[in-house]
Amino acid sequence: MAVTKLDPSPSLRSAVYGAPLSSLVDVPAGAVQLSPLRPGAEALEAQPDAAFAELVIAAPPGSIERRFVLAHALRTLAPGGALTVLAAKDKGGQRLRGELEAFGCDVAEHYKSRQRVCSLVRPETLHGLQDAIAAGAPVTVEEIGLRSQPGIFSWNRVDPGTSLLLRHLPKLAGRGADLGAGLGVLSQAVLASPAVEELTLVEIDRRAVEASKVNVTDPRARFVWADARETALSDLHFIVSNPPFHSEGIEDRGLGQAFITAAGRMLRRSGTLYLVANRHMPYEEVLRTAFRSVKPLADEAGYKIFEARK
Ligand SMILES: C[S@@+](CC[C@H](N)C(=O)[O-])C[C@H]1O[C@@H](n2cnc3c(N)ncnc32)[C@H](O)[C@@H]1O
Repeated sequence: MAVTKLDPSPSLRSAVYGAPLSSLVDVPAGAVQLSPLRPGAEALEAQPDAAFAELVIAAPPGSIERRFVLAHALRTLAPGGALTVLAAKDKGGQRLRGELEAFGCDVAEHYKSRQRVCSLVRPETLHGLQDAIAAGAPVTVEEIGLRSQPGIFSWNRVDPGTSLLLRHLPKLAGRGADLGAGLGVLSQAVLASPAVEELTLVEIDRRAVEASKVNVTDPRARFVWADARETALSDLHFIVSNPPFHSEGIEDRGLGQAFITAAGRMLRRSGTLYLVANRHMPYEEVLRTAFRSVKPLADEAGYKIFEARK
């Protein structure tokens, strides 16, 4: 079924969420970026109702997060506006059509390069948007005592790698950074040391930055919504990191390696990096290139901890 776009007001903007494969869909020229993983992008959830004529969404893999994004997309699209959503078959693509139909949409679907692509024209009447928006909204997760939101890394439990690093962190001192700070769990522990003068939490996910501002209220903390690989921090005494190895859902070993290289740049002589990694991650060589000494502190339950001194 081909979808014919109706005509919402020509003054309305178009938007894109994430990085949809350009071989599968056309992103309208001038589309504004709405992904929380793009530093500086506008927030989808902050847009008024019926604000857009056209939206293209690279749907996230988590189902609560995806339904939240789809509901906001439909809310912010003007009736008659066009929505295109795509996801890999095994990363939520298989469920996309059903999820959109449950909101009251007529959906055309095709399958290409292992992606499901759904297109529709936004009907006048929709249902279930508020429930999906409420389910995916920021929330305090009582079990871990943290502000969080579905879609953030390990949003409702403390990551086991993070727990292991917490057990091996010494009392730190001076100026430091938490690269890929997430909800701020490592930062909270670092700031328990009174000898820490300043701690910069660097994080690429806006939702995590907002949550960490609630979780880490210490005045010595600074929050930066940015790509840690491009952050201009320097002369630091220490860095802590549980680096990512996924970029927008796709495994990327180079990402953790780039974090290590960036940490090496940011530290002063004798500055120290405390790092946790999944055991299968090949980080040793990069660590030895960027640091004078590399000491394994633990190798347990599938994770390893390194102390690397510059
Ligand atoms: C393995 S998680 C660790 C989160 C948190 N430190 C913890 O221990 O729970 C890695 C974090 O890095 C963030 N991240 C991914 N790519 C990034 C980048 N290029 N720059 C900064 N942060 C990034 C992710 O959003 C995620 O929050």
